[in-house]
Amino acid sequence: MTLTTSTSQLSGDLSNEWSIPAGVTYLNHGSFGPSPRCVRDARHAWSERLESQPMDFYLRQMETALDEAAEKLGKFIGTNGNDLLFCDNATVAMNIVAESVSATLKPGDEILFTDQEYGAVMRIWRRAAERVGARIVIQPMPRPVANADEQVAAVMNAVTERTKLIIVSHITSPTAVIFPVEAVCREATKRGVPVCIDGPHALAMMPLNLKKLGCDFYCASGHKWLSAPFGSGFLYVAKKRQQQLTPPVMSWGGSLSGRSAHWQDEFRWLGTRDPAAFLAIPTAIEFLERFGVEEFRQQTHELAQYARQRIVELTGLEPPTPDSREWYGSMIALPLPSTGEPAPRQGIRDQLQNPLWGKFGIEVPIVHWRGERLLRVSCYLYNTRAHIDLLCDALKQCNFGL
Ligand SMILES: Cc1ncc(COP(=O)(O)O)c(C=O)c1O
Repeated sequence: MTLTTSTSQLSGDLSNEWSIPAGVTYLNHGSFGPSPRCVRDARHAWSERLESQPMDFYLRQMETALDEAAEKLGKFIGTNGNDLLFCDNATVAMNIVAESVSATLKPGDEILFTDQEYGAVMRIWRRAAERVGARIVIQPMPRPVANADEQVAAVMNAVTERTKLIIVSHITSPTAVIFPVEAVCREATKRGVPVCIDGPHALAMMPLNLKKLGCDFYCASGHKWLSAPFGSGFLYVAKKRQQQLTPPVMSWGGSLSGRSAHWQDEFRWLGTRDPAAFLAIPTAIEFLERFGVEEFRQQTHELAQYARQRIVELTGLEPPTPDSREWYGSMIALPLPSTGEPAPRQGIRDQLQNPLWGKFGIEVPIVHWRGERLLRVSCYLYNTRAHIDLLCDALKQCNFGL
């Protein structure tokens, strides 16, 4: 069941779907993607339903509504709803994996990462590994990116008989590279090593078929490229791992409506809360389906490609990946000229960030990673070439913050 109070047809002008203030050029959908109006309306309608009769909602409606929402999401990402857990975001999903897997680790066991994993993911695993004396192994990936075999070989070369899990982003956060995760899963399976994919950027930006992919765990957030509400995400768990999981919060653990026991039960009722963000996920999928999912991917990729061409012209610096949809989708991360100074400490932003926002109203992240100073540009349906042109003018006027 989908609750929608707006029936936009998505032909022509989409600008009404978003409330981004005039004067703001929003090029960071990849961090925090605002939802279209119909998704916000759907979330609100679900909350209203809960508020109008909470007993009826929690006891008689919620489980079926969550099952239906999970089924719709499952179809969109090539799996069944009953292999998915709704989570607030990818961070919560990764915490569940870390708590559960680390309980099975022994001192000296290894968890393998690439050097492009998300900072919070590294913190989650450092803490989990420390508790049991396991080791974090970080494998550098070849840059610039030349081909998939080289990337996959770099990961596999770091696998030892002590490797108990590989964690790899589907699309990396600092570098915006699509990682060849299918090949990683294939090679890892041959060696009997499970794989957890950190996939918040891939959800909707690329086609997903989780059953075929063959990973053990897949963590994602809905508020990025799917444009589902903030506070909506999921954890996919392969059947063979489902009994191994422990809930992040201990609560009742059973079914509210009295249906037969299911592995998801422990994760559904984490105390009393509003599931409206999860229940609005189908509306976000339908929004993209009405637009055309492939059209959405192609249109936003073409804009990212335009941004790439313009920024490379401006900086004269080589892009780190080939120009192909194999390596990037709707988001790019390109080098800016170096300031010659050490990377700003965490929490202190690049010196270009202030004028870009203060003078030009541009929201775009600049990431310092492995000695590179990268401008990460996200392109969504509300972005146009004019936004990219404005960004390029601003970069020129600010002389890249040098
Ligand atoms: C690769 C990657 N993993 C995990 C996360 C965490 O996502 P969230 O904050 O939605 O939990 C992000 C956020 O940007 C990310 O880029």
